[in-house]
Amino acid sequence: MTETNPNIDFPTEIVEEGKVKILVPELKAFIKLPSDYAPSKAPVFYNPVMELNRDIAVLALQTYQKMLNREISVCEPLASCGIRGIRFATEVKGVQKVLINDINEKAFQLARYNVQMNGLSKRVTVKNQDANFFLAHYGAPRKRFDAIDIDPFGSPVPYLDSAIRALRNGGLLALTATDMAPLCGVHPKACIRKYGGKPLRTEYCHELAVRLLAGCLATTAAKHDIGISVVFSHSTNHYIRIYATTKYGAKKADESIKNMGYILHCFNCFHRETLKRPFLFANSEKCSECGSKLNVAGPLWLAKIFDRKFCELMGEEFRQRDFRFKGRIGKIFALITGETEAPVTYYVVDKLCDALTLPVPPVKKIINALEKEGFPAFLTHFNPKGVKSNVPAMKIKEILREMLNTN
Ligand SMILES: C[S@@+](CC[C@H](N)C(=O)[O-])C[C@H]1O[C@@H](n2cnc3c(N)ncnc32)[C@H](O)[C@@H]1O
Ligand SMILES: [Zn+2]
Repeated sequence: MTETNPNIDFPTEIVEEGKVKILVPELKAFIKLPSDYAPSKAPVFYNPVMELNRDIAVLALQTYQKMLNREISVCEPLASCGIRGIRFATEVKGVQKVLINDINEKAFQLARYNVQMNGLSKRVTVKNQDANFFLAHYGAPRKRFDAIDIDPFGSPVPYLDSAIRALRNGGLLALTATDMAPLCGVHPKACIRKYGGKPLRTEYCHELAVRLLAGCLATTAAKHDIGISVVFSHSTNHYIRIYATTKYGAKKADESIKNMGYILHCFNCFHRETLKRPFLFANSEKCSECGSKLNVAGPLWLAKIFDRKFCELMGEEFRQRDFRFKGRIGKIFALITGETEAPVTYYVVDKLCDALTLPVPPVKKIINALEKEGFPAFLTHFNPKGVKSNVPAMKIKEILREMLNTN
């Protein structure tokens, strides 16, 4: 196989994903030690585990294209072997052109080979530049893209400014972040530095991660007089992903900034509350339930992180298609569709029961008990033991005690 292209001088193999065949590094050839992480040891990055991420990206892009009801242009500035952009061109109807790019020369060669192999040379263009330099060429009117997918190593923040500039009014921006240690509060300084918001090591840190990334996008876009709406997001394996649409205008940017604020959390009693007072916060608040000092996360995005209509349309699209991970994606969709209207943060049943030294009941049972007491409650895709509800911490603990004592 490598003989067909003298520039691909490392072991490769063909994989099938979605509706495409792609030449990728043969991962097992790059594992020297059992601890080696093959995708980053290979000369070109390829991670088969991200198939589900790419499947959902295909569904989101198709949903967006159908909502626009016209042909769209798509850009993937950190494309590696090209698998994602090639899937967009092949599997999403109404995609007029895709531009893919990677700074790594070997990735560029491989992506170019893959575009040819899939017969897409007319619709998919491959470039070999720094992503910001590349995007800068598309930051002017009539050059911009309808959709941009940023799928980097670690944080997408270094590319936000140029992606926002290269996205047309109403465009769709998809972002992956894999730097979960900063976003989940293991390295808070790195999170403050990169995302401009403080994380917290709470049981709902994955939702905080989504909201910190969305908040960072909202403030970055606002600098360009652009507002955002988050239409879909998910936290899966070792990464988070958000899909946001943009709207040009200083007013839209102001509206979007109004959605910034803080989440205050009590590590003593599980109480949490939100504070919509972006950038005017002094952390001296006390927990209204137990009087302990509250810990703050943010500023971050407090508005919706899923749009019900977008999720429903994505669900319809999903049901018409086949994926290797169809079962898993179906479960994620069912949970997300159910939590589109749920409140901010969630309780994790194990954590509550651990603190109360009670056995852990099934999550569904708690949901039923909460609803019986008049507190709407929702499962969440963020955590299999998570419960989203406006119920106060004291009350959910009381309900748990009663529930488990009467058994
Ligand atoms: C996580 S991989 C992309 C995976 C790909 N999007 C997919 O779905 O399989 C990140 C890629 O970004 C590329 N990259 C890193 N820094 C870059 C930069 N400044 N400009 C362009 N590409 C860059 C790397 O070479 C790598 O191929
Ligand atoms: Zn408290």
